[in-house]
Amino acid sequence: MRGIVLAGGSGTRLHPITLAVSKHLLPVSDKPMIYYPLATLMQAGIRDILIITTPHDRPQFERLLGDGAELGLRLSFAEQAAPNGLAEAFVIGEDFIGSDKVALVLGDNVFHGQALDETLALSTRDVDGCVLFGYRVPNPERFGVGETDLEGRLVSLEEKPVRPRSDRAITGLYLYDNRVVEVAKNLRPSVRGELEITDVNRWYLERGAARLVDLGEGVAWLDTGTPESLLKAGQYVRTMEELQKVRIACLEEIALRMGFITPDECLRLGRRMANSAYGRHVLSVATDEAFRRELVSV
Ligand code: DAU
Repeated sequence: MRGIVLAGGSGTRLHPITLAVSKHLLPVSDKPMIYYPLATLMQAGIRDILIITTPHDRPQFERLLGDGAELGLRLSFAEQAAPNGLAEAFVIGEDFIGSDKVALVLGDNVFHGQALDETLALSTRDVDGCVLFGYRVPNPERFGVGETDLEGRLVSLEEKPVRPRSDRAITGLYLYDNRVVEVAKNLRPSVRGELEITDVNRWYLERGAARLVDLGEGVAWLDTGTPESLLKAGQYVRTMEELQKVRIACLEEIALRMGFITPDECLRLGRRMANSAYGRHVLSVATDEAFRRELVSV
C-alpha cells in the first residue's frame, strides 16, 4: 500500500500565522505538524509516501524530510497548484499510486493512542473498497459526517451538514483500493468548487464498498486547523509525553520499531539532534534497542 500526505491548502483559518509558513510546518508541541500524519502512515507499515504541498512551500518540506532514506522511507513530493479539494490528491498522485492501494492522510490530522497500531494493522490488511475512520465529536457540522444503522453499518455520508444526522465525524485518514484514481478523475467540483473526498467516499458507499472503523476507545483524534485546536493539540501532546514518558510521532523511533532502520542508523540520527530533548530521546531509544538486541543474541 502507498501513502499520501496532503499538505497543501492555504491555511486561511490560521492567518496571519500561515501567511508566510505552511500550516503543516508549524509546531505541535516540539515537532512540525507533518510529523504526526507521517507517523500514522509509518505505523501502518507504509514506506512509499508522496507528500503533496503547494509549489511555494515544497522546498521547505524537502529540506525538512529529504528523500526519507535515513528513515528507511521512499519519499517523493508533488505540488497542488491551488486548493482544489482533497480528492485531487488521487489525480495528482496517479502515477505514484500506479496499480497499488493507497492511504490518504490529511496533513493537519493527529492520531494517537495505544490501540492505534492494532487498528491500523487490521484495517490495512484487506482493503477492498474504502475504509473510513469515525470519531465522535461535539461539533459534527464542521466535518464530514457518517451515519450508521443499528448494526453499525454506514448508511449515509455528508460533508459539513447544517443538521448532522450523527455525531460521528469522518477523520482525515482514508484507505482505498485502486479504483479511487478513476473515481477522483471523474468527479465534478462541488458548489464550493472543490473535488470533495466525501463524494469519493459516497461512490464507494453506494456500491456497498465503504467500511467504517470507529476510533475512540484507546485512540485520540485531534484536528489542528484553527488557533484553538492547534494549541489544544500541542497541550495534549506535551501532557501525554510528560505523564506517559513516551514521545508521540517520533519518526526515528517509529522507523526503528517498524524495522525500517537499525539501532546504529537511529543512533546516528539522534547524534545530529543531541542538543534537543527530542534528539536525546532518539539517542536513548537507539541505545536501549541496541542493548536489548545484544541481550537477545547472547
Ligand atoms: O479533518 C477531517 C476533515 O477534513 C473531514 O471530516 C472532512 O470531511 C474533510 O473535508 C476535511 O475537512 P476540513 O474542512 O478540515 O478540510 P480542510 O479544507 O481544512 O483541509 C484539510 C487538510 O488538507 C489541510 O491540512 C489542508 C489540506 N488541503 C485542503 C484542501 C481543500 C490540501 O492540501 N489541498 C486542498 O485542496
